[in-house]
Amino acid sequence: MKVLFIGDVVGKPGRAGLARAMPALRDRHRPDLVIVNGENSAGGLGITPKTAEDLFEIGADVITLGNHAFRHREAFPYLDDSDRVIRPANFMAGNPGRGHTIVEADGMRICVINLIGQVQLRAARSPFSEVDVLLDRVEGRADAFFVDFHAEVTSEKVAMGWHLDGRAAAVVGTHTHVPTADARVLPNGTAYISDVGMTGSRASVLGVRWEQALEGFRTQMAVKFTTAEEDVWVNGVVVEIRDDGLAESITQVLEPVPD
Ligand SMILES: [Fe+2]
Ligand SMILES: [Fe+2]
Repeated sequence: MKVLFIGDVVGKPGRAGLARAMPALRDRHRPDLVIVNGENSAGGLGITPKTAEDLFEIGADVITLGNHAFRHREAFPYLDDSDRVIRPANFMAGNPGRGHTIVEADGMRICVINLIGQVQLRAARSPFSEVDVLLDRVEGRADAFFVDFHAEVTSEKVAMGWHLDGRAAAVVGTHTHVPTADARVLPNGTAYISDVGMTGSRASVLGVRWEQALEGFRTQMAVKFTTAEEDVWVNGVVVEIRDDGLAESITQVLEPVPD
């Protein structure tokens, strides 16, 4: 079975671009399951019920999040109710929402897990011990595990790949919005990439209008950021999962969206 995973969708330009790209992506890759990171889907930061529903309409089956999960208060009850939108599992226990979900696709039960890194980001617990506990708890109820590890530094992400090698079908990194060139299947069968990248304007700094981000760096003053719109690209990966719950292949999707 095939999973199409889409990197952080940034704002309306990202959502509109993904909507335009999806028919061709479906044609070419024939995914059985589509997972989309939606932590930047609402105005570039966070998610709202509306942008989540938008992503579902575009074709997402599961939405993952990250450090911007709780940017919009109106999303809290939505996150509590939804079993298809997940936020990092190693957030505080009392936070809205859940950290994993089990979905059926092509006759397989896929457990999708969202984790957040501890280096330069806020986590309530170690993602390493958290995922061990989760895998134990879900054992017997899922045929494969797909992990979105939302983290800042490549060292922590690469370490998570080794930590889960042979136990998860895939560990894909998100958060930096910059795709890395290290996609591969690790020796024991886990598909790995340090960062999938983002789905949004490439004429930008991580989705923000580049002139504004640059002014912030040049002047060290507060600058109002808006989402860039031009030159939207889709960044993702396609992971092929075997019947034994491990990966056959991982292929990057890096392409401009036609206007
Ligand atoms: Fe992001
Ligand atoms: Fe993030």
